[in-house]
Parts: sequence; structure tokens; C-alpha cells
Amino acid sequence: MERLVLISDTAGDFAAAFPGAVAAEIKKFPDGEFYARIPTDCKGKEVLLLHRCYPEQNENLMKLFILLDAIKSQSPSSLRCFIPYLPYARMDKAVKQGEAISADTVCKTLKSLGCNELITVDCHFIKQGAGIFERAGLKIRNLTASGALLAHIRKSSPNALAISPDQGAAYMAKGGESIKKVRGEYGEMGGATYRKVAEMKVDFEAKGKDLVIIDDMVSTGSTMIKAVNVLKVAGAKKISCATTHGLFLSGALEKLREAGAGEIVATDSIHSPVSKVHVADLLKAKAV
Ligand code: R5P
Repeated sequence: MERLVLISDTAGDFAAAFPGAVAAEIKKFPDGEFYARIPTDCKGKEVLLLHRCYPEQNENLMKLFILLDAIKSQSPSSLRCFIPYLPYARMDKAVKQGEAISADTVCKTLKSLGCNELITVDCHFIKQGAGIFERAGLKIRNLTASGALLAHIRKSSPNALAISPDQGAAYMAKGGESIKKVRGEYGEMGGATYRKVAEMKVDFEAKGKDLVIIDDMVSTGSTMIKAVNVLKVAGAKKISCATTHGLFLSGALEKLREAGAGEIVATDSIHSPVSKVHVADLLKAKAV
């Protein structure tokens, strides 16, 4: 079966890892709507679409939807897409009556547009790590960057003990320790809805240790910064930070450094000044 890798305009940097990949044609109409064209025949082929949905995730989701539909209409034999950071993955359950479970909306839509498999990295609603899962009828292959992130930190801190800032990311610490995190009520932060971290407890020996805190994402940074602070209070000697998806909103990178974090590393699922681990390498090694 012939394979075809298609690359969107948000994933152009993946082309080096996929020689022969074809770029999708994407333009914007004067009113802001997207024009998309698949400039090659997909009929009967195993198609893999590479696309980033962040930043501008609302726009880039729409772009993904029309790209998938254009590919589907050409009857490929299979259609997979690689979205390293899946938007809306954090809205995976209703806390208040009537809340939209947007993670399901995204998954259902991808499925309905012919996506046979979503390949993603350290997806927020999958707490079990790498593997094959299903959500809202969509097959999801979850890759993890934890091994590559920890290996990067251990080049300069060979004995760093991995710590997850909560139970949800415990799988990323690969046998290390977890901080106990409690979220508070919804509040406002910079005009956006946000649940603050209410409390963090360190119930393991951190004194004098070289530690690396690892998490699926750093968004506002409040989780990671609080983790750095409680580990400093617990007597840690050196603290590094590793994350798969580095959004680093509201000056989070600088705030982390001010809090006392040493080396900080992320993947390039989202471009940032500390993106040192390449998700295209993970994809090639595990799913292509
Ligand atoms: C939470 O469960 C996640 O794993 C992250 O810890 C969290 O979403 C990061 O968000 P923030 O950087 O805003 O604390």
C-alpha cells in the first residue's frame, strides 16, 4: 500500500524528518476564512497528515477539519493525523452541571471527518502514558516524550530524580515520586477561566537531592512554579523542569527561572525557547 505524508503550514519544520512529504496548499480568503487544497492524489493511499493546532488553536482546528475532509473526499485507504499537542484535551470532564466536554467534541469531529487514528503526544486526558486508547469513538495513539525529556536533563544532571507535580503525570516520572496536588475552585486569571492550585504536599525525602519535575504541560506555570517552591522548602539541592507541551503563558518561563528552576526543557510540540526534544523524532521512532 502506498504511503503519503501530507504537511500543513503549521508543521513545515517536520518536512526534514519526512523526505518526500507533500505540503498542503493553505491560503486565507480576504474575510479570514481558509482555502485548502491537497495537491496530490490520495485515492487508495495510507495518508498521514502532520499538523500543529497550537497556537491559535481555534483557527488551526478549523484548518484541520477542512484538510481532513478534503483528504477523505479522495478516498484514501486510511487517514491518520499527527497533532502533537491536542487542543481542548484539558476540558475532558464536566465539573459543573451543563459544562461542555470539549475534548469529546474534538474527538467526535475528527472521527466523523474520516480520521482513523489520531497520533498525539502526552495527551492530557490519557493518564496511562504511551499506548492505544479510544475517546468518543476516535482511536488515539498516545506517544510519550518523557523518556527523551528525562534523557535530555540527565545529560547535565545524571542523577536527577524525576518528580511529577501531581498524580496525573505520575507515569512521566517513570518510577520517581509524585507531589500531591489539590486544585481549587474556578476563578478568573487575566480574563480567562482558571482553576488555581490550592495545595501541594511533598511526602517523600527531597532534602539535598537533585530533582527534575516533569509534567505534560506548562500553561500559566502555576503548577510547575508551585512545585519548584515546595521542593525548595523541602530542601532540594537542584531543581530542573521538563515538560512535553511548553505553552509558557503569562511569562511562565521567566517566573520559573525566578523561582529557582535550573535547566528547563520542552518538546517542539509548541515552539518555545527551550524546545530541545523533537516530536517528529518520536513519531518516526514509534508510529511510522
Ligand atoms: C494538570 O493536570 C496538568 O498536568 C498541568 O499540571 C497543568 O495543566 C498545567 O497548567 P498550569 O501551568 O496553568 O498550572
